[in-house]
Amino acid sequence: MIKVSGGTKVCALIGCPVEHSLSPAMHNAAFQHLGLDYIYVAFNVPPERLGDAVLGIKGLGIYGVNVTMPHKINVIKYLDELDEGARLAGSVNTILNRGEKLVGYTTDGLGALRALRHAGVDPAGRKVVILGAGGASRAICFALANHVRELIILNRTLERAVKLADELRRVFSFVGVRAGLLSENVLEDVLKDTDILINATSVGMKPNINETPVKRELLHGNLTVFDIVYEPLETRLLKEAKSVGARTVDGLWMLVYQGALSFEIWTGAKAPVEVMREAALKRLGEKE
Ligand SMILES: NC(=O)c1ccc[n+]([C@@H]2O[C@H](COP(=O)([O-])OP(=O)(O)OC[C@H]3O[C@@H](n4cnc5c(N)ncnc54)[C@H](OP(=O)(O)O)[C@@H]3O)[C@@H](O)[C@H]2O)c1
Repeated sequence: MIKVSGGTKVCALIGCPVEHSLSPAMHNAAFQHLGLDYIYVAFNVPPERLGDAVLGIKGLGIYGVNVTMPHKINVIKYLDELDEGARLAGSVNTILNRGEKLVGYTTDGLGALRALRHAGVDPAGRKVVILGAGGASRAICFALANHVRELIILNRTLERAVKLADELRRVFSFVGVRAGLLSENVLEDVLKDTDILINATSVGMKPNINETPVKRELLHGNLTVFDIVYEPLETRLLKEAKSVGARTVDGLWMLVYQGALSFEIWTGAKAPVEVMREAALKRLGEKE
């Protein structure tokens, strides 16, 4: 049972919708575990109310905020300062209220990097293929660009992948980045000598759990396959990757680590990652 006092610090999620978010369960479990006098709640904020909601952070003295879809880009114009990572990626998922100033951060990409490292996979010097060129792929690509040897972005809509690759080349002077169409021919060509495959599309997500972005025959045992989809926890892609002997990383690790990094920005305490994952798993189970 969470104890709430007059001095309890409030953290919050703003997004639309937020009802199914795992973040309240994850953060409240972490606060409780460390005996911190904080509480985390979720606010459903429609796009036309975003400015009012951000004003409310200062007005009410809300201590820390997570920002989720559809506000990660639009929230920037209401903030006072941006951390370097958020500025480069053009996206904010975490706000720290410093009293006079609201500072924006992004922990999505670093969360993905931590998830890989947790699984014992260091992307430094590796060849990585990432599927998708939406918001999540963008965050991951920005976090990986400084580490990997080669990054190939494949997307259903080629122009989005080309645009993202151009941006990475410009921002990081990263010459090892290429874009391509997400097709069987291209996958067959690039996956043979790839070390890490990341699915950052929504293919395979509930309710379409029988879909996969890469057919089993193209997977191999030297791959690490990281699927950022976490509903279901074991996607068809991950199941088939396991069956060919590949190492697998599920999307809940990314969610947990992006949350852990936000937690650390707000509290300055080391996040209890295993406690957060357990709470998120329990909440996922309750939803099913
Ligand atoms: N684990 C985590 O912490 C975490 C965090 C963020 C997101 N996610 C998950 O990641 C997924 C993507 O999220 P997002 O925010 O990046 O979404 P988004 O910005 O809407 O991007 C969606 C991406 O998926 C591609 N796509 C969608 N349907 C497709 C299909 N049928 N075939 C091929 N490609 C398809 C899109 O391609 P086009 O450009 O061609 O439309 C685009 O690249 C979602 O499932 C989300 O739940 C997980």
